[in-house]
Amino acid sequence: MGEFPRKCCARLSNPLYESDPRLAYVIGDGVTFTAVDSADVDTRAIIGEGTSIWHLAQVREGAILGTNCVIGRGAYIGPGVTMGDNVKVQNYALLYEPAVVESGVFIGPAVVLTNDTYPRAVNPDGTLKSSHDWNPVGVTILQGASIGARAVCVAPVTVGRWAMIAAGSVVTRDVPDFALVAGVPAQRIGWVGRAGVQLESVGDERWVCPQTASVFTEASGVLSEETS
Ligand SMILES: CC(C)(COP(=O)(O)OP(=O)(O)OC[C@H]1O[C@@H](n2cnc3c(N)ncnc32)[C@H](O)[C@@H]1OP(=O)(O)O)[C@@H](O)C(=O)NCCC(=O)NCCS
Repeated sequence: MGEFPRKCCARLSNPLYESDPRLAYVIGDGVTFTAVDSADVDTRAIIGEGTSIWHLAQVREGAILGTNCVIGRGAYIGPGVTMGDNVKVQNYALLYEPAVVESGVFIGPAVVLTNDTYPRAVNPDGTLKSSHDWNPVGVTILQGASIGARAVCVAPVTVGRWAMIAAGSVVTRDVPDFALVAGVPAQRIGWVGRAGVQLESVGDERWVCPQTASVFTEASGVLSEETS
């Protein structure tokens, strides 16, 4: 996808503390991000410039967070989860690996991105399952999409660019770009533009955003943004 952070990220291996009461970590190569003292950020995670990680959030080993992300209270970012820039993860959202979250994505409070299609605590012989006994599958959320509060995305699904998932939805199928989906299981109930509000039909398979005036064309269930 080519948009994940590289140069302007740093590891927490040798953090220096600023006097900022929020306990910003200042990294040797000049990268600064904020992690409050109660946040649990693994030293093997890579965090982008300007990112904030709030109380009781956990960022696991190998996770890669882009620049200017906000990780809310109690959120969980699993091992190796990758995140682009300007992502907002609201309180108590759970992003299980190997989730991939592109830039500009909004993850609402208490959202769950699952990673195990057929979860079991134990094997058929009753022994405790270990990480070798199952294959994690991930949720992918493309640029600018929003996942409403307490929604569950059941892996493996891809949520398209700028799509909007209504609060409380259970997403079991891929969601097209710009789709507004709701319910259990989530079904498309409309289209949204980049501003997040529903598009209005102007006939002839064309849609317009009442907020930005952007125009979209629908063809075979796919919505494309017209370029001016
Ligand atoms: C989905 C959503 C964007 C729709 O907003 P909207 O475009 O203003 O649409 P409306 O409120 O007019 O609702 C349109 C229809 O969808 C239904 N609907 C709205 N939200 C729904 C939801 N979460 N689940 C199921 N159906 C929903 C409405 O009942 C309505 O149905 P009807 O046409 O049969 O009456 C909004 O309700 C929503 O869920 N936003 C996410 C909020 C959120 O989680 N924020 C996170 C930060 S707190």
